[in-house]
This record gives sequence, C-alpha cells and structure tokens, in this order.
Amino acid sequence: MLVKFLIIVFLSFLSQSQKSSSQVLELTYNGFRPPSTNISIQGIATITPNGLLKLTNTSMQRTGHAFYTKPIRFKDSPNGNVSSFSTTFVFDIHSEIPTLSSGGMAFVIAPNPGLPFGSTFQYLGLLNVTNNGNDTNHVFAVELDTIMSIELNDMNNNHVGIDINSLISVKSSSAGYWDENNRFNNLTLISRKRMQVWIDYDGRTHRIDVTMAPFSENKPRKLLVSIVRDLSSVLLQDMFVGFSSATGSMLSEHFVLGWNFRVNGKAQPLALALSKLPILPVWDSKPPRFYSFIKNWMPWISLLLIPLLLIIFLVRFLVRRKRKFAEELEDWETEFGKNRLRFKDLYYATKGFKDKNLLGSGGFGRVYRGFMLKTKKEIAVKRVSNESRQGLKEFVAEIVSIGQMSHRNLVPLVGYCRRRDELLLVYDYMPNGSLDKYLYNSPEVRLNWKQRFKVINGVASALFYLHEEWEQVVIHRDIKASNILLDAEYNGRLGDFGLARLCDHGSDPQTTRVVGTWGYLDPDHVRTGRATTATDVFAFGVLLLEVVCGRRPIEIVNESDDTVLLVELVFGFWIEGKLLDATDPNLGFEYDQREVEMVLKLGLLCSHSDPPARPTMRQVLQYLRGDAMLPDLSLFDFRGSEKMLGISHRFSESCMFTSRSSIAYSILSGGR
Ligand SMILES: *[C@@H]1O[C@H](CO)[C@@H](O)[C@H](O)[C@H]1NC(C)=O
Ligand SMILES: *[C@@H]1O[C@H](CO)[C@@H](O)[C@H](O)[C@H]1NC(C)=O
Ligand SMILES: *[C@@H]1O[C@H](CO)[C@@H](O)[C@H](O)[C@H]1NC(C)=O
Ligand SMILES: *[C@@H]1O[C@H](CO)[C@@H](O)[C@H](O)[C@H]1NC(C)=O
Ligand SMILES: *[C@@H]1O[C@H](CO)[C@@H](O)[C@H](O)[C@H]1NC(C)=O
Ligand SMILES: *[C@@H]1O[C@H](CO)[C@@H](O)[C@H](O)[C@H]1NC(C)=O
Repeated sequence: MLVKFLIIVFLSFLSQSQKSSSQVLELTYNGFRPPSTNISIQGIATITPNGLLKLTNTSMQRTGHAFYTKPIRFKDSPNGNVSSFSTTFVFDIHSEIPTLSSGGMAFVIAPNPGLPFGSTFQYLGLLNVTNNGNDTNHVFAVELDTIMSIELNDMNNNHVGIDINSLISVKSSSAGYWDENNRFNNLTLISRKRMQVWIDYDGRTHRIDVTMAPFSENKPRKLLVSIVRDLSSVLLQDMFVGFSSATGSMLSEHFVLGWNFRVNGKAQPLALALSKLPILPVWDSKPPRFYSFIKNWMPWISLLLIPLLLIIFLVRFLVRRKRKFAEELEDWETEFGKNRLRFKDLYYATKGFKDKNLLGSGGFGRVYRGFMLKTKKEIAVKRVSNESRQGLKEFVAEIVSIGQMSHRNLVPLVGYCRRRDELLLVYDYMPNGSLDKYLYNSPEVRLNWKQRFKVINGVASALFYLHEEWEQVVIHRDIKASNILLDAEYNGRLGDFGLARLCDHGSDPQTTRVVGTWGYLDPDHVRTGRATTATDVFAFGVLLLEVVCGRRPIEIVNESDDTVLLVELVFGFWIEGKLLDATDPNLGFEYDQREVEMVLKLGLLCSHSDPPARPTMRQVLQYLRGDAMLPDLSLFDFRGSEKMLGISHRFSESCMFTSRSSIAYSILSGGR
C-alpha cells in the first residue's frame, strides 16, 4: 500500500472508562497519497496524485484548507486541562516571483474541520476582519507569515508567530533557526526551499515551543518562538487539526509534504521519513522570463517611455494636422502650379475661417477676409463647396486663365486651392465691398454722381477687355451689382468669374444651360440658350439703370406681389419725356444732367430685347467717354414692348434663376 498513513492508538489504561484522557493518538503522513488519506480539503486545496498536499494554486485571492477528518480529543472533560501535543511538518512555499511575497500559511487547531469565513491574503484563510481577536473563535495557529500587515502588527514579511484567536500573534519571530554554533540563520519562507517546523505544547507547564529548520536538518536545540500560555480556555474538548493558506494578488503555491501529529504521548522525537516524502514539481529555477525582463529593463523602459509617449503625441498631432490641411493635387494641376495656394496658408490667413472673418455668403459659398502672412497682402477667400468633381478640371483651368488676365478693373485672382470636396478661390481684398451695398435701402454711404460714373466707366472698360482685348473672348455671364467690387479709390472692379465662359474670337457661341441672375438675364439668351457678348451687354444695361436709379432690376411693388422691371419703369419715364425723374433721390442735385440722361438712355439701349440693337462694349465705351454721340433712341423700335416685357412674361416662377442655384449648378454640373 502506497499510503504511508498510520494511526497508532495506545490505550494506556484499558480498564478505565471510555472517557479516558490517556488516549495517545499519532498521525503520520509521509506524503498524502490517495485514496485513503482521511484528509478533508476545502477551497482551492488539492492533493496531487503523487501525494503532495497542495493548499493553494495560482488562483488569486483564494483560500485553501486541509483538515484531518476526525475530531481529536484534547481534553478529558470540557473544562479540563489540555493534553500535551506535538506536531511537525515539512512545507514549501513557491512564489512565482521569488522576491515578492504572497499569502502565507498556518498550522491550525479549530473547532470545525473547515474555516469557511477565513479571509484571503494576510488573514491566511484563518479568520476575518470581523471575528479577528474574538475569544469565541477557539482557534490556535502557528503562522508562517509572508505578508507584513500593519493592522495585524506584523514585524516583517517573513516571520513565524503563535496565534490565539487572532492573527495578531501573541509572540512571533523572524523566520530562521539557531545552529549548533548558536548562530541565528535567517530562512526565507518563500524561498521555494523545503523547510520543517516543530510545534510542541506541554500540558503541564503550558509552554508552547516553535522551531524550524531547513529540510533534512535536525530539530534545533534552541527555540525560535516560545511562550507560556494555558490553552485550556482556547481549545475545546474535541478539535480538528490541519492547515490553512491564502493567496493574495501575487501568484504563489503552498505545499505540505509530510506531517506528523501526536496528542498525549510522551515527549519523544516525531518520526518523519524525509526520504519518502513526495517530490515537488519541477519549476524553472530561473525566475519567469517576463519578470527578469522587467527587472533588467525597467529603468530603461521608464527612461524610454516618456520620450516614446512624447513621440506618439507628436505623431498624432502631426497626422491630425496633416489631415486637417490635406489638399488634393492631381497631375493636371501641376501646370497651374503657381496659382495653387496651400490650404494651410489660407487657414492661417483667415484665422481658421472664423466667423469673425466672414465677409458674406451667397450661393457660391462663403467669403472670408484674410491676411497672407507671406505676401503681406489682404485677401478674400471664397470657399466653394463642390459636391461633384465633374467638370472641375475645366473650371479650374478657366479660373486660372482668367487669373492670368490683368486689368485694373478686374478683381485680381490671387490663386486657388482644392481640398477634399471644396474649392477655394482667393482674390485680392476689396476694402469697400460690393456696389449693391451703396445703391438700395437707404445706404449709409452714398455715392455721388462722379463716383457712380467712375464705377460705370470702370466696369465698361473691364467688360470691353474681356470681350475684345484679351486673347480669348470671355463672356462673364453674371454681371450684376453684387459682383462689382469697389477698391480703396472706389474704382469699380468686376469680380466673380464663377460663370464666365471662354471662347475663341470669331467662333460661334455654343448652346449652353441658361445661367445668370434673374433680372439681369437677356431674354434672347433665355430663348436661344446661346450666350454671347450681347448677353453681357444686356446685363450691363440693367446695371447702368440700377446705378442711376438706385433701384433693383426687379422690384415687388405691392402686397399682390406685382413685379416691376426697372427697364420697363425707365422706359415709361422716357416715353413721358421726363427721364430724369427716374434718377436716384440720393444722387443729390450736383450732377451733369446730360451725362445722367445719356447713361439712362444707354442703359435702355443696352437692355434692348433685340441683341443686334444693343451696342458693343467698344461702342459703349465711346459713348461714355463722349467720343461718340448716342444715337437717338426714337430711331429704335421699342414698340414691341411685349418683347421688352418678355422677361417677366416668359419667365414663370419655376424657371427663376437665382444666383444661388444657377451658379452652383453651373460649376458642379460642368454643363457650361
Ligand atoms: C481512515 O482511517 C481509518 C483508521 O483509523 C482507516 O481504517 C480508514 O480506511 C481511513 N479512511 C480513509 C478514507 O482512508
Ligand atoms: C485552483 O484550484 C481550483 C479548485 O481546484 C480550480 O477551480 C482553479 O481552476 C485552480 N486554479 C488554477 C489557476 O489552477
Ligand atoms: C489541571 O491541572 C492543574 C495542575 O496543573 C490541576 O490542579 C487541576 O486539577 C487540573 N484540572 C483538571 C480538571 O484536571
Ligand atoms: C467573519 O466570520 C464570521 C464568523 O466567524 C461571520 O459571521 C462573518 O460574516 C465574517 N465576516 C466577514 C466580513 O467575512
Ligand atoms: C465575538 O463573537 C460572538 C459570536 O460570534 C459575538 O456574539 C460577539 O459579539 C463577538 N465579540 C466581539 C467583541 O466582537
Ligand atoms: C535576517 O533577517 C533580519 C530581519 O529581516 C535582518 O535584520 C538580518 O539582517 C538578517 N540577517 C542576515 C544574516 O541576513
């Protein structure tokens, strides 16, 4: 039989009653080989196949108990004296990290074969914070404590103590032994080395003695811990003996290899056949790799960690920044290289497109004021959202070629930028804003006739440049007051080439989608779908009337939403022969009447419904400069006023062209 389990019962006084106190009981376990061990286990305790009593495994915050299954009689009577007892055992504590202590273990005498309320870690599975120190516990233990717990008055994290009803030891000593030369040798409980412990209680003298020694050494002569304490009030008549252990949050295992317990016997050396004890599992003698790694590299890791975090932070910042300022650049754009601006520069120029810098917003997008740090130049940035990339290439190409034009009455295009789904057009900043602000709704700043005439002349010469002087014919297609900008000297400058079309001189204009702004739209263009220079002249004519009359091209006159066309209105005044009555009251009285009359007539002529009747921009300039006489209006056939009114009649609400929809559509559809 493998089990080296032995119970020897001596009946000293056979004749005496059954309640005799002289029963000698001895248990000897040279290993706990199953199946017949008479040991009951609780918690995470197990008995290994080769006979090790393994109190704990590497589960954290758990307890493990092992008790001899039968009660042991410690007293003859409930109030009697406690008999002498002796015990010895061989144990081994294996800590995963040899320098960090985990829970310890204890030999225990308890009223029950289990300690269900024992807490983990520093409580060793014996007691808990509530019942610790309570005399009703009836618990005696010798602790092998590897935790220094302040609340339990522990001396260090490697000590042996005698515990009575409390984990606050009645006496304790640092783990170790006195050798033959009377020298004290420290022992480390968690050193993974097998050690033996002896505990003796003398029922007569009430002395409790504890000694320990390394495995296979003899029991030291000099005691480690000793105290005189009568246990008769602590131990009940029948008690259970065994072991208790608990884990904390470090990995550790507790083993009992062999155990001998005797009660009542004469003081004689206990016998454990050390050579027959079971073999411990083989552990890697080196500490776990990750542990040594950490130990060796910790200073370096912490040294590197801070710069590493900084680098990560920096990279994140840069990536975000890069994404924020990401632009699109396609092959075909390289030819426009110098007109291409960096989004980052525009972003900083406009202070991040802050609302504070918003100049205005229209169908085209929002316009922001900015200051280019590099060129020390004030700019206006127009952000055009671009939902479809179709036609964008052509658009950019046109924008850029227009950017190459230079005329003092054109708003200079500084460049453009393209990113994700938007296009940014950058123009010179015009400090005085757009012309429409000076015309309607009792403006704060009123332009006198001289200023207005200068604006008209400027726009006319710009338009002449576009139509005839530049290498290609440029049809602006969106001449209107809000697209005329005033520079610091109140020169009129034509801006916003969002709808402009280029074609070669002498070529036939292509049929296109009708675009423009309602009120400035040439009825002929609407009918035929062909945009010509005369289309621009028509809008210019409306603009002339607007500037002189201070009225919008189309006005709603009463509650019934009746619209009045400015052209119609001025025409009416002309028929009645009091053309000057059409002028803007804000104009004051200091003006050249003939000049004003001439401009009004020119406006009517330019906005004639029949394109061939309209003058060219060359002629317009000549009239304005007085180099030619305006022909007599009565020679022209204005009779077909139906034609004139065609604008309002032919246009139903459904084909009203607001600048918003038309421009956006034009850019995005590429249908130009
Ligand atoms: C317990 O010990 C008794 C001897 O006292 C023995 O007869 C019995 O087989 C043991 N029980 C087990 C389960 O080993
Ligand atoms: C420890 O033992 C308990 C009970 O035998 C078991 O449930 C648990 O899985 C074990 N833990 C480890 C880490 O082996
Ligand atoms: C306990 O021991 C003391 C002496 O050590 C003795 O006087 C006393 O009678 C004993 N008590 C019992 C109940 O045996
Ligand atoms: C402590 O143990 C006692 C029994 O001895 C039990 O009643 C109590 O609930 C336990 N307290 C805790 C906090 O576990
Ligand atoms: C000790 O425990 C008992 C029973 O568990 C309880 O009635 C008593 O109040 C406790 N005493 C102290 C001081 O906690
Ligand atoms: C033994 O341990 C004690 C307490 O930890 C310490 O003060 C002493 O220096 C140690 N002695 C040796 C020889 O290591």
